[in-house]
Amino acid sequence: MLRGSKVGLRARHEDDVPVLQAELYDDVVNTSRADGRPWRPVPPGVPGGKFVVDPTDQDNLPFSVVDLESGELVGAATLWGIDTHHRCAHVGLGLLPSARGKGYGTDVVAVLCHYGFVVRGLHRLQVETLPDNVGMLRSAERNGFVREGVLRSSAWVLGEFMDEVVLGLLADEWKQGARG
Ligand SMILES: CC(C)(COP(=O)(O)OP(=O)(O)OC[C@H]1O[C@@H](n2cnc3c(N)ncnc32)[C@H](O)[C@@H]1OP(=O)(O)O)[C@@H](O)C(=O)NCCC(=O)NCCS
Repeated sequence: MLRGSKVGLRARHEDDVPVLQAELYDDVVNTSRADGRPWRPVPPGVPGGKFVVDPTDQDNLPFSVVDLESGELVGAATLWGIDTHHRCAHVGLGLLPSARGKGYGTDVVAVLCHYGFVVRGLHRLQVETLPDNVGMLRSAERNGFVREGVLRSSAWVLGEFMDEVVLGLLADEWKQGARG
């Protein structure tokens, strides 16, 4: 398990899947805002469901997020789009509603940075999020990510096009444990 100050990132367990599916995926508003793909009704556990792990997929690595003290599941995190030639990847996360706003998100980003830069030797990590997702923007910025640009009108979100903010962090800029 990877450890931060509040959260642990461990492998996805089979019994995490229905919880993540019910509390994250089946919240259509959350999924429409946080996932580039359209929401569709997916039975829990079927191959291709968002939280079901494909062990052959080396480019997208799903973690389950647990509270370090209690071991309780609090969300999901992914290092996705891992490109071993350009040594870059994207960071994604979603916390159960009851776990939001307590500092877990900032800590999850810190742990994913450690995994990406230290364990995997990546050079660059990237976050994309909607401009009004203050919690995600701050979780990234507190770990040193900088806003690099705006993809204008690039996301279809519940009936309207929205901009996406791109944030990046390079290995050289990242200081483990430093939070601004
Ligand atoms: C976005 C998300 C991961 C942030 O994690 P979190 O644990 O809630 O965030 P934190 O508690 O670490 O807060 C980080 C900062 O954002 C602020 N913040 C958090 N939620 C906020 C909100 N809803 N509105 C305004 N500010 C917020 C906190 O005050 C904190 O600010 P600080 O750094 O100045 O102290 C989490 O809320 C979540 O899972 N949301 C739903 C899914 C989602 O949006 N995923 C990201 C898709 S790109």
